[in-house]
Amino acid sequence: MLEDSFGRRFHYLRLSITEACNFRCQYCLPDGYDGPPNSAFLNINEIDTLLTAFAQMGTSKVRITGGEPSLRRDFSDIIALAANTSGIERVVATTHGARLASEAKGWADAGLQQVNVSIDSLDPNQFALITGQNKLTQILKGLEVAVAAGIDVKVNTVMLQDFSQNRLARFLDWLKTTPITLRFIELMETGAHHNFFSSQHMSGLPLREKLIAEGWTLLKRRQDAGPAQEFSHPDYAGNIGLIMPYSKDFCETCNRLRIAANGKLHLCLFSEQGLDLRHYLSSGDVEGVKQFVTESLGSKHISHYLQQGSTGATQHLAMLGG
Ligand code: 5AD
Ligand code: SF4
Repeated sequence: MLEDSFGRRFHYLRLSITEACNFRCQYCLPDGYDGPPNSAFLNINEIDTLLTAFAQMGTSKVRITGGEPSLRRDFSDIIALAANTSGIERVVATTHGARLASEAKGWADAGLQQVNVSIDSLDPNQFALITGQNKLTQILKGLEVAVAAGIDVKVNTVMLQDFSQNRLARFLDWLKTTPITLRFIELMETGAHHNFFSSQHMSGLPLREKLIAEGWTLLKRRQDAGPAQEFSHPDYAGNIGLIMPYSKDFCETCNRLRIAANGKLHLCLFSEQGLDLRHYLSSGDVEGVKQFVTESLGSKHISHYLQQGSTGATQHLAMLGG
């Protein structure tokens, strides 16, 4: 089992398969994507080598992310590959959700068990303002299609100062009858967006206190869980999660490693640099991957040092997935 020098174990791999995205979220790609084409990123054989190696090292859960992973034509094939890799028990993905309505059934058939969809507002105009795409209705329809196809759905909402008015009330109302988990994420500072961060970041702590005061209770964390603290309430069909990367001890429960779409291993979302694995992947060298990753883990730090303003090499999250 992969373990670092602080005793953290890594069951969970987040694999970015593209940096490209056709949304323009203000905190991520405000000017749109202008990088390499999909042909520059890991191909399916390289992904096969990678997943085989990680599964042999104890990885049981894979999140396929981007950019927007559904922009790859072989997205379903990648889902199926992960689902058929011996040792991988859970295959999940992060998507903007615009293709769910038409594709969710196919993805479920390929083996996708859960999706995280980002919805930063339930007001269509506000949604369009934040993401540059007027697709809220289509995405909400997509969530229903996904649930009907047997895919477990989580929704991510980035907390922004500008948009905090009314947003919460609307989301809470929605959760009364919608059986999904809604996760509020604190805005993280990335290299490209220093000013946006300073004007828009808000702490999740006041929300946490409000929820507890209103009768929400903290659920126990699963071993392969992501970084959210999840709450439930008897009067609500949905749950609420809070992701507070700036809170003390956030990194203590870290159980995930990341592979960027260019084949670099990132020990942390905010690592200074990725460690290049690609030559092992292109040559199908499963043993080489295992040895490289095991040795690299020795240099994983105790914290992301975000509190000190360190953003590492991450310019925006489309580079690496959230
Ligand atoms: N801070 C917090 N969340 C972010 N995401 C993208 N960029 C940031 C950021 N700077 C979120 C997206 C999506 C998930 C993949 O990460 O909204 O829900
Ligand atoms: Fe695309 Fe996700 Fe970045 Fe929005 S946050 S621009 S949907 S990669």
